[in-house]
Amino acid sequence: MDMKKEIAARTEQAEQIIRQYLPTEEGFQKTVIEAMNYSVLAGGKRLRPVLMMETYRMFGGRSKVIEPFMAAMEMIHTYSLVHDDLPAMDNDEFRRGKKTTHAQYGEAMGILAGDGLLNYAFETATKAFEIEPGNGNIGRAFQILSQKAGIHGMLGGQCVDIESEGKEVTEELLQYIYKLKTAALLESSMMIGAILAGATKSEQRIVEQAAGELGLAFQIQDDILDVTSSTEVLGKPVGSDEKNHKTTYVTLKGIEEAYKEVEERSRHSVELLNTLVVKNEFLTNLMMELVNRKK
Ligand code: IPE
Ligand code: IPE
Ligand code: MG
Ligand code: MG
Ligand code: MG
Repeated sequence: MDMKKEIAARTEQAEQIIRQYLPTEEGFQKTVIEAMNYSVLAGGKRLRPVLMMETYRMFGGRSKVIEPFMAAMEMIHTYSLVHDDLPAMDNDEFRRGKKTTHAQYGEAMGILAGDGLLNYAFETATKAFEIEPGNGNIGRAFQILSQKAGIHGMLGGQCVDIESEGKEVTEELLQYIYKLKTAALLESSMMIGAILAGATKSEQRIVEQAAGELGLAFQIQDDILDVTSSTEVLGKPVGSDEKNHKTTYVTLKGIEEAYKEVEERSRHSVELLNTLVVKNEFLTNLMMELVNRKK
């Protein structure tokens, strides 16, 4: 399997789906809609929609019902980045190779664009009811979409992350932060794919665990790249964590140990998926490819 080619094809497919669901820039509130689309269209790996689609396919899903959820997930993820970059949060001015939304449109529009994306994500996901009215799992998918983004998911993690700046943080607490701020949206993505394709409760639990491990690996790798990469490659500033006095896996354990953890958790994640009867070779290959991602 030519992974480079396969990843490019899936990313492009996700890209088309996301674009199709973006709001039209019109009305007196046009500015906020422009700011929303600016951040989404700036790029990004589209990892979460791709993981969602591939998990859906793994469980035999074949309909378009997944598509509004893919777009919704990328909107929620993008909102989390727009707000993460705000002056009151990580205060970063570069994202996805462009000026951050608040740097381009001002802070008020940055806040509103983030709020707009979160709301529009749910509005978008409701379109799944029109595509497959008979799919009784859509409600459960909604539940996961909302829970994993909220106080017991991404948002909760961002809260602890911000409150921990400049403080001593134990490995246990750091894991808690990563599980919520980053892993939760990966869990959500893969679980929604599984749920909409009709996976059983026990299959959903395995997918959740696998995505949780992948999410931790993903955030630890993000910490490593924050000290080893460059702004040109990443499309976002390096050294952001040090600037904000964050404890990360790198400050806690050093780069080598951190990298080992990325490898181990990624491998464990794949092992968990391999316990399922269903298989998706592309998906498990992708999860291992992420270990050596450069951005
Ligand atoms: C960045 O996520 C935020 C983290 C959770 C580390 P991505 O690295 O997936 O960012 P994009 O979507 O490619 O811009
Ligand atoms: C944030 O982690 C994860 C989110 C929920 C947005 P970071 O603050 O490390 O993400 P980057 O490095 O700015 O993308
Ligand atoms: Mg942050
Ligand atoms: Mg940040
Ligand atoms: Mg980071």
